[in-house]
Formats: sequence, structure tokens, C-alpha cells
Amino acid sequence: MSKFWSSTVRKTKPYVPGEQPNETNVIKLNTNENPYPPSPKALEAMQFAVNDDLRKYPSPTVDSLRKVIAKREDIEPENVFVGNGSDEVLAFAFQAFFEPNEAIKFPEITYSFYPVYAKLYDIPYQTVPLKDDFSIDVEGMCESIGGVIFPNPNAPTGIALNLNEVESIIKRNPNQVIIIDEAYVDFGADTAVPLTKKYPNVLITRTLSKSHALAGIRLGYAIGSSELIEGLERIKNSFNSYTINRITLAGAEAAMKDDIYYDQTLNQIIETREWTKQELEHLEFEVIPSQTNFLFVKPTKITAKELYETLKQQEIYIRFFENLEDYLRISIGSEDDMKTFVNEVTNIINSIKV
Ligand SMILES: Cc1ncc(COP(=O)(O)O)c(C=O)c1O
Repeated sequence: MSKFWSSTVRKTKPYVPGEQPNETNVIKLNTNENPYPPSPKALEAMQFAVNDDLRKYPSPTVDSLRKVIAKREDIEPENVFVGNGSDEVLAFAFQAFFEPNEAIKFPEITYSFYPVYAKLYDIPYQTVPLKDDFSIDVEGMCESIGGVIFPNPNAPTGIALNLNEVESIIKRNPNQVIIIDEAYVDFGADTAVPLTKKYPNVLITRTLSKSHALAGIRLGYAIGSSELIEGLERIKNSFNSYTINRITLAGAEAAMKDDIYYDQTLNQIIETREWTKQELEHLEFEVIPSQTNFLFVKPTKITAKELYETLKQQEIYIRFFENLEDYLRISIGSEDDMKTFVNEVTNIINSIKV
């Protein structure tokens, strides 16, 4: 605590991101990054964008990228908001749509940034326990006072709700904003974008950090009714008019037009995920079925913490959450990374047996 801190700084409890080790030869399966490089077309566009124009500010309205996203999603550009990573979009959405005296709801086990934003903006919240199978309790998410936010698929469990379940949450919170965080939707869940045309209170957030392998350029976006998008614009323009830099804009636009490359890497990750799931099941792990680029697993032959620490010594990073002590989250890496991972886990488990 410093005497110079404002009361806002004093009450914050910042988010702790997964480790980003400096060494290059580690196997990094801890922050759900994409193991494949970004689209070569995106890299080329970004290299091309490093030119004299960088002396000028970027577009404050991001019109060109909004058009590309709108075309891809079959919506209008006025239904798209673009931000510096979906974390920024989420932070703006908390400020734009939730109130300090009206409790919002989110699942008890979910993306741990939500309580951080809620505390920062003084928004009270109620957490809804997951069902026994780790899925989101639809009934529990209904009739909120201040609004609802949940990832679909949920993180770190990897389980998605179907569109009927999502729609029933929306219908039963008709006067509140429902934020559906679709950071991982591309890996196998159904998007709720069509529901944004039917319900003006639904906001979808997306990111290029996972399925488009562009975590390093920080690009996220939201889709919703024009009134919700205008709400986000008003917050953004009271904070920083130029949140997206020119290089990111060029890379994001090119990446979102390169669907052939995107489909190839996506399919590869899904295939590797299913292979890893099977291998871990052979090693008697409990593996929750995943519709994301990660697996949520419970080892049975070793504690989660011990496995996490032993793998870290071998320079393989996975995610251990202190509050979910029996479980681990493993991001899906390349085929080679996952073979090495499975071999190491096998060796660790075998060495306990003897
Ligand atoms: C559920 C969820 N939402 C949002 C994000 C943030 O993504 P971005 O890189 O776009 O800020 C993450 C990142 O891990 C996430 O897991």
C-alpha cells in the first residue's frame, strides 16, 4: 500500500496472467495461445504497414476492419465494436452496461478477469455454482438484477451451452445486458451472433488471440445491437480515441480474410485436442469434454499441483489454479508439443509407481 494510491487502486485486486517465461525452448501450454504462426498474409500485411504512415494516428472509428468483420459475420458495421484485445472490450462493457448498485451474475468457475472488473468498477456480483458435470447452470443464470456475463464455451472447463440454453438465459433477463464471451467459440461451439439480431440486450465478445494466432497484436471485438455498440464507443472515446494501432489493424484485416489458413490450423488443433484427450484418458486422467483449444483435466495418480510443478521443472508450462486444486488446464500445442507432453506425463506417472 502506498499513501499515494487512490481509493480505486487500493481496492483493486488485479488479474494474474499465466506465466510468460523468457526462455525460447519451453513448451508453453499455459495461456491458451495458438501453437501455429499467424496467417502468412497477416504477417505480410503488418510488415507492409511499417511505413511512413506510422507518424499519423490510426483510424479512431476502425471502419475498414469493422466492414471486414461485418461481412464475415453477416451483420452490419454498426453492429461491430473493435478493441485492444477482448479484455479491453470486456472492461468497457462492464462500465457501459453494469451498475454499481445492481448485482450481476456469472458462473462460480469462469474467466477470472470478471470479478476483477467488477471490483474495479464497484459492481456487485453473485456467482452461480456449476452443475455436477461442470456445465453452466442455465436456471441459475436467469432473473439477474444487473446483468449476466459468461464465456461460451466456458473457461477453464471448456464446456459450451447450446443455443437453446443461451437463448433461455437471454429471454429470462429481458431488461439486462447479457455478455457472451466467445473467446473460444471457433474451436467447436455454436455462436450466438444470430441472437444479436433478435435481442437488443445481447453483446458477444470475440478475440483474434486464440483461433487466429494473434495474441501478440491485441485485437478483440464485440457484436451487438447498434445501441450497445454506441454505449461501448462512448466509453472508449472517454478513455482513448485510438485504441488500435495501425500495424494491428493491417494484420487483423488480412487475418480475417484468410479463411483457408484459419480453417487448416483450427482443424489441426481440434484433432490434436482429441488425440491428447484419449492419451490422458489412457493415463487415467478425468478429462472434461472440450469445445476449446484447451483441456480441463484431473490427474488421479498424482496431485495436480505436483504434476504442474514437475512439468515446470522440465520446462513444460501448464496452468494450475490455486482455487481449483484438483484440476489442471492444458492448452493444446502443436502435435510435437503434445507428444512430448504426453511422454513426460507418462514418465512422471510411471516413476511414481516404482
Ligand atoms: C474467456 C476469455 N475471455 C477473454 C480473454 C481475453 O482475450 P484477449 O487476448 O482478447 O484479451 C481470454 C484470454 O485468455 C479468455 O480466456
